[in-house]
Amino acid sequence: MIVLGIDTSCDDTSVAVLEDRKILSNVVSSQIKFHSKYGGIVPEIASRKHIECIWDVTEKAINEANLTMKDIELIAVCHGPGLIGSLLVGLCFAKALSYASRKSLIGVNHLEGHIQAIFLEKLYPDFPFLTLIVSGGHTSLYRVDDFGKYKELGRTRDDAAGEAYDKVAKMLGVGYPGGPVIDSMANEGNPEKFNLPRPYLHGSLDFSFSGLKTAVKLLLKNLGYEEGKVPDDVKKDISAAFQCCVIDVLIEKIKWAASMEKLKRVVITGGVAANSELRKRAKMIEGLEIYLPSKSLCTDNAAMIAVAGYHRFLRGEKSDLYLNARAYLPL
Ligand code: KG4
Ligand code: ZN
Repeated sequence: MIVLGIDTSCDDTSVAVLEDRKILSNVVSSQIKFHSKYGGIVPEIASRKHIECIWDVTEKAINEANLTMKDIELIAVCHGPGLIGSLLVGLCFAKALSYASRKSLIGVNHLEGHIQAIFLEKLYPDFPFLTLIVSGGHTSLYRVDDFGKYKELGRTRDDAAGEAYDKVAKMLGVGYPGGPVIDSMANEGNPEKFNLPRPYLHGSLDFSFSGLKTAVKLLLKNLGYEEGKVPDDVKKDISAAFQCCVIDVLIEKIKWAASMEKLKRVVITGGVAANSELRKRAKMIEGLEIYLPSKSLCTDNAAMIAVAGYHRFLRGEKSDLYLNARAYLPL
């Protein structure tokens, strides 16, 4: 089955074409350059940029797959959670395509897309497994018993891990998005130079990263640096210390959740799962089989939406033109 996937939930316009689970194309058009000067995503700019490029990105994805619109059999579109204006662009576009070309439409939850990104890889786990979704909007643990069967075990009570990366990067003055920059600066820093808190929330599988972010803010103040004006060596050491705290917490919670749920297989996904240190340390966890989508499938992309839509369609599900976008859409 040829599936067209569309994701416009945040600041990337992405369209992909799959043949069943095989990726024929996966085009991601990033808007970073339009948002970076504001130190974060400006929702109004994001929706306008999606409108400007969604058709070009779709044509590119279909061309790269060496197909035409006639070959598409199913349109899978992300309809939440995300920025409402951005979601609406992708959804209205998908509905119009589906109506005009008489192709089936299926709505997909963005988080389900992140979880199912692993099924685009050659190596994927049998059910049941544990998933950690760690992205700019979410830090959540799920027990996954089957396609479509997800049980939330824990979630962030405040900032998501990726959001903390982005906010710390802003304080250090290293631009947006902060994750990849902190990732590479941390490699050159000493994680033990500064002592930052590890918010474990003992007894809970929830997360909390806002205290850690505030601790970095206070550290900069105590060291006498103005936010955004920090010397390079200090930036590297703070990045290393901050990243070490985030990863220690993520790894500990994976271990707790796996032991509580008696699960041996773990999928780590979402933008922060592209982090080199997290990938390295996760693979070293003893007694657990760790599955990581390749980096480009961890960050937002439409192939993950297409594969999740494909599995829903195989189960007999379909959406109609009343499908709506929702900024908050539980899995
Ligand atoms: O999954 P994603 O592309 O979008 C959301 O659904 O949020 O995740 C984006 C987040 C951003 O906060 C970004 O800073 C973070 O993922 N990120 C990383 C890395 N690459 C992206 N965080 C840490 N290390 C990275 N290498
Ligand atoms: Zn995402």
